Amino acid sequence: MELLNHCLFVIITAVVCAAEYEKRESPFRRSFINPYPQFSSHNDGIDPGEPLFLTPLLNNESISRQEVRDMARVKGPQFLGVESYSGYLTVDEAYDSNMFFWYFPAEQDPEHAPVLLWLQGGPGASSLIGLFMENGPLRVIAQNKLQRTKYGWSRTHNLIYIDNPVGTGFSFTCHAEGYARNECDVGRNLHEAVIQLYKLFAWNNSSGFWIAGESYAGKYVPALAYHMHNTQSGLEDHDRIPLKGVAIGNGLSDPLHQLKYGDYLYQLGLIDENGLEKFHCAEAAGRACIRQQDMDCAFEIFDSLILGDLPSGSLFKNLTGYQWYYNYLQAYDEDYVSKLGNFLQSGATRRAIHVGNKPFHDMDKENQVKMFLKEDLMDSVAPWMEELLKYYTVCVYSGQLDIIVAYPLVRNYLKTLKFPGSDRYKTAPRKIWRVDGELAGYVKQAGNLVEILIRNAGHMAPLDQPKWVYEMINHLTHYTR
Ligand SMILES: *[C@@H]1O[C@H](CO)[C@@H](O)[C@H](O)[C@H]1NC(C)=O
Ligand SMILES: *[C@@H]1O[C@H](CO)[C@@H](O)[C@H](O)[C@H]1NC(C)=O
Ligand SMILES: *[C@@H]1O[C@H](CO)[C@@H](O)[C@H](O)[C@H]1NC(C)=O
Ligand SMILES: *[C@@H]1O[C@H](CO)[C@@H](O)[C@H](O)[C@H]1NC(C)=O
Repeated sequence: MELLNHCLFVIITAVVCAAEYEKRESPFRRSFINPYPQFSSHNDGIDPGEPLFLTPLLNNESISRQEVRDMARVKGPQFLGVESYSGYLTVDEAYDSNMFFWYFPAEQDPEHAPVLLWLQGGPGASSLIGLFMENGPLRVIAQNKLQRTKYGWSRTHNLIYIDNPVGTGFSFTCHAEGYARNECDVGRNLHEAVIQLYKLFAWNNSSGFWIAGESYAGKYVPALAYHMHNTQSGLEDHDRIPLKGVAIGNGLSDPLHQLKYGDYLYQLGLIDENGLEKFHCAEAAGRACIRQQDMDCAFEIFDSLILGDLPSGSLFKNLTGYQWYYNYLQAYDEDYVSKLGNFLQSGATRRAIHVGNKPFHDMDKENQVKMFLKEDLMDSVAPWMEELLKYYTVCVYSGQLDIIVAYPLVRNYLKTLKFPGSDRYKTAPRKIWRVDGELAGYVKQAGNLVEILIRNAGHMAPLDQPKWVYEMINHLTHYTR
């Protein structure tokens, strides 16, 4: 009886909360799971040249692959001798959808190094943010000045960045129908791009293909892996892209089980019991919306809880005074990107990376990519994760200090997954993880799941702890199985 009453209370609360939240205006405005303010356009008077479309060249028998690679080569002293290639791949001819990629061959043993794709989240965040701020071989230190990094993942990986989905970064589509509506669209377009990249760069002797990403890429990474898994199952070995595993950092994958901020914020001392009650109420309402497949309602609650893109802000901002949810040691925004924006928008860069005058979109005010993914935002890829966990290594890592996709939220959904090893996962011992004697974090493993906490890092873990996260990914791709 007591239980029944409790459940009734939860249901009634959920309905009341949902009704209250329905009044809010649509929140599809600006940034979602991305900390970076908008890029300004920048004109340095240098002719940006023409965009380079590689697909017709790849399909032309009278042009050798070597010639196509030469055309895609990124040249210029500003890149400090770091070898790279970039251009457009047509992934959907009907809608003229084209994906921009930027590829950095491995510095060590490129013939055998694993191929690793990095995807940013958003939706609508350019993967070039990951390149220049998190795990690439170069970073921007002044308007038009780059510097080599020490722990770029291209040290030991053939490292690819793709602006995904189309409409993000330099990737574009010429038709409304070309935008991704769901993760099936995302997976299909990405797979097409990866197939063409394998043609172009012939990583025949590489030790395998890995997909990594962060934040909203908690959807994209499984989407690509799952699409590859399904479409490749009938193929001969030599025609297959040798998918080995995935790595997801602070990823939103299963909102139904990840919408649990209240307890976390309470334990951190950022809210009191009154605040906790408000969070619990809204969270129950959000879950009710998801269960009813009312994704608009679910997203509005998510926004009012924590994102606060609407003028009325969020409960989180109201109660804590925080303007920043990527690291709980920091209450305010950091201006990470203005130098990067100027660098990417300059004619010299545009010319070198073969994008011509194509617009660059990163979490714009009118974020088309997010608009078209509206129904997808609060949907789950948990069933795909379960399938992937049967066959591939799945690393789920978390920067410890993140709020927006915090470690306990991730754990909460991982615990609901059913896969070979899921029972062991619930009781598996946690191991202390050290890098050169430094306490880097903790690791738990069961079946194909590797769960890692990265100490002293926020939402963008490779930005905060480049050495540890490099060691993590390198170990994963070189020494797992
Ligand atoms: C293929 O490339 C050759 C040599 O550049 C060119 O002459 C020809 O028009 C191309 N064919 C197609 C179908 O684009
Ligand atoms: C790489 O593998 C593909 C597919 O098996 C094959 O067509 C191609 O000739 C190979 N390339 C090299 C350089 O070995
Ligand atoms: C892969 O290795 C084989 C055997 O060593 C070699 O013949 C081939 O050229 C290599 N392929 C590539 C693309 O390097
Ligand atoms: C936040 O506080 C403001 C000012 O009191 C209020 O108008 C707004 O509705 C609050 N937002 C939420 C989501 O609670």
